[in-house]
Amino acid sequence: MDTGREYLKVLAIESSCDETAAAVLQNADHPGSRILSNVIKSQIEVHVPFGGVVPEFAARNHMDAIDTVINDAIKQSGHDLREMDAIAATAGPGLIGGLLVGMVTAKTIALMSQKPFMAINHLEGHLLTARLCYDVEFPYLLLLASGGHFLFAEVMGIGDYRILGQTLDDAAGESFDKVAKMLGLAYPGGPSIEEAAKHGDDSRFQYTIPMQRRAGCDVSFSGIKTATKIHISKLDSMTDQDKSDVAASFQSIVTKFITIQLRKAYQMANTKLRNMVIAGGVAANTRLREEVSHFCDQHGLNFYAPPMSLCSDNAAMIGWAAIERIGHNLPFSDFDARTRPRWPITEIY
Ligand code: KG4
Ligand code: ZN
Repeated sequence: MDTGREYLKVLAIESSCDETAAAVLQNADHPGSRILSNVIKSQIEVHVPFGGVVPEFAARNHMDAIDTVINDAIKQSGHDLREMDAIAATAGPGLIGGLLVGMVTAKTIALMSQKPFMAINHLEGHLLTARLCYDVEFPYLLLLASGGHFLFAEVMGIGDYRILGQTLDDAAGESFDKVAKMLGLAYPGGPSIEEAAKHGDDSRFQYTIPMQRRAGCDVSFSGIKTATKIHISKLDSMTDQDKSDVAASFQSIVTKFITIQLRKAYQMANTKLRNMVIAGGVAANTRLREEVSHFCDQHGLNFYAPPMSLCSDNAAMIGWAAIERIGHNLPFSDFDARTRPRWPITEIY
């Protein structure tokens, strides 16, 4: 229950990839009252012809969109800039051009309005999103799968993150994007493959599950990608049914493989875990959610998946990470805080 007290309010900006986003968050007790606004301007149509994000175009489009997006977020929140207690922005990891646009804008707003500024790690935003949406207690087992990252981690508290396994090559989302490109399906590949797979036979093309002779729970998607390329090359001409069958078989092996490695990650955790969280764009995949949910049922874990709209990039998760940090008395950032295109979650604090 919300008590009616005056909540802390944060204006947050996200521009690390191809979404220009701003949001206003407050530290309400009830999850449903925390997001006051959440504006996302997607650049997808700019990048579709190239089958992937073009960093230079992304930066220019962030420049063009960011003022309007921030203005809309403040207006839709029903508050004004003076009522904000802090300004937060994604400092990394991500594409340098976009990060600079968001960081410079956020710092300027903070300086002009004399508010504290907080540089946020994009991955920390994803990994805390479940706590924005539900009352999830630490510790939890995390599967973070996005376009640029893949990792299993044991999340003990704010800033207390232990990586159990990660990808040795592509991120899961990246492999969806690349296979979609091979099939001539639209970017971003994840949703396109999921859609095509609905009409496909997931047992038509065979794969070997990678990494099974190796200790640990790291993943590699390059073998699955190459096997898919070989399957496609053996087809005389590709019909829509062939595409659906490849998409379904690929999606099936990827989600099965992730779940097998997840089981190992669970065994590697130090703490007695009761909760499991998935995050990142790939966490929007229904098949993956089903498999992880089944794994959680088998192991007596509570399963938390953010709503689809908060799995992909957004500024609400950045604002929430700032609120969590403030709530744990962590310091604000200096105005000379750098953008960090590479910034592992183990180096946040
Ligand atoms: O987290 P995100 O929005 O951006 C990054 O931080 O990377 O993740 C984007 C990635 C893309 O590679 C996209 O293809 C993938 O998430 N994705 C999906 C689905 N929706 C988005 N992958 C599989 N199934 C989906 N439904
Ligand atoms: Zn992301």
